[in-house]
Amino acid sequence: MRIDNIDFGEGLILAPMAGVTDIGFRDVCSSFGADATYSEMLSCRAMLHNPQKTALMTIYSPSEKIKIGQIFGHEPEIMTEALKSEYLKPYQIIDINMGCPAPKIIKNGEGSALMGNLPLASKIISSCVKNTDRPISVKFRLGINTDISLDFGRMCEEAGAKFVTLHARTAQQGYSGNADYEAIARLKSALKIPVIGNGDVVDRESYLKMKETGVDGVMIGRGSLGRPYVFSLIKGIDYDKDVMKMIKRHIDILRAHYEEDWLIKYMRKHLLWYMTGIKGSSEARAQVATSPSIQNSLKIIENLIKNQ
Ligand SMILES: Cc1cc2nc3c(=O)[nH]c(=O)nc-3n(C[C@H](O)[C@H](O)[C@H](O)COP(=O)(O)O)c2cc1C
Repeated sequence: MRIDNIDFGEGLILAPMAGVTDIGFRDVCSSFGADATYSEMLSCRAMLHNPQKTALMTIYSPSEKIKIGQIFGHEPEIMTEALKSEYLKPYQIIDINMGCPAPKIIKNGEGSALMGNLPLASKIISSCVKNTDRPISVKFRLGINTDISLDFGRMCEEAGAKFVTLHARTAQQGYSGNADYEAIARLKSALKIPVIGNGDVVDRESYLKMKETGVDGVMIGRGSLGRPYVFSLIKGIDYDKDVMKMIKRHIDILRAHYEEDWLIKYMRKHLLWYMTGIKGSSEARAQVATSPSIQNSLKIIENLIKNQ
């Protein structure tokens, strides 16, 4: 897949995941072969009025190959203003979130709420396209509660989006049920611009099933949690299976930017995900969940692995 002069290689992409895809995780996923990585969703309003939060969310690692900044908002003027922000400078591509189902986002008419307001969604996309030289893309779901992905995708294309990503569930579904790969295949056939398929890809088998839809790229979210090597697994690349090394690399990068107090709380979920594949880890998991320090957590995990 190619967007302007940006070559996506095999088009295997790490999904944007708020509160999860920090700089350390993006770095580790990139080292295992993720061809592109997204920032967490960035509020355009916050970028202009409360930039400290955005500053930490937009730091990046040199191992990230193609950096995509994902923005959200509902006001075309604020969003086009945000495009000029220093914080978005590192990104080769700007993606607009039109799929987030979180109530606090929908309440503001943002994220997936825009799938219920095509004229506004179109205005946002075309204003962004007009106000930057960088490619604009859109990530969306099937619809709010019914599948309108064809109409929505066509609107994105007409408004000037360079590619789209479809997470093939409705906002109402959240994460329940299976992603609708037939809807992804229909969208791919209907559009001229590239389509990235997203939903439930966790290994080579599910990846190949997604590829049968004809998509140009495949995005992986939850399948990477605790398994940043999923990208090597899918590509059939030999990789270092040492979980401790992955965890330490992830933490070392975060340590350069964040306070230790924040880190211990934040890393808990990642550590528990990393431990998922380790046999007999239930007691150790309980200990990590309440561990007072990173060092202590690492010791628990190291011992667990040694005793395998
Ligand atoms: C914890 C979490 C946070 C997410 N945050 C975002 C986000 O900031 N922006 C976005 O477009 N999608 C977000 N998503 C949705 C994912 O990008 C992806 O579309 C979804 O998880 C389906 O893909 P998967 O089946 O591979 O996980 C999030 C998902 C999860 C689980």
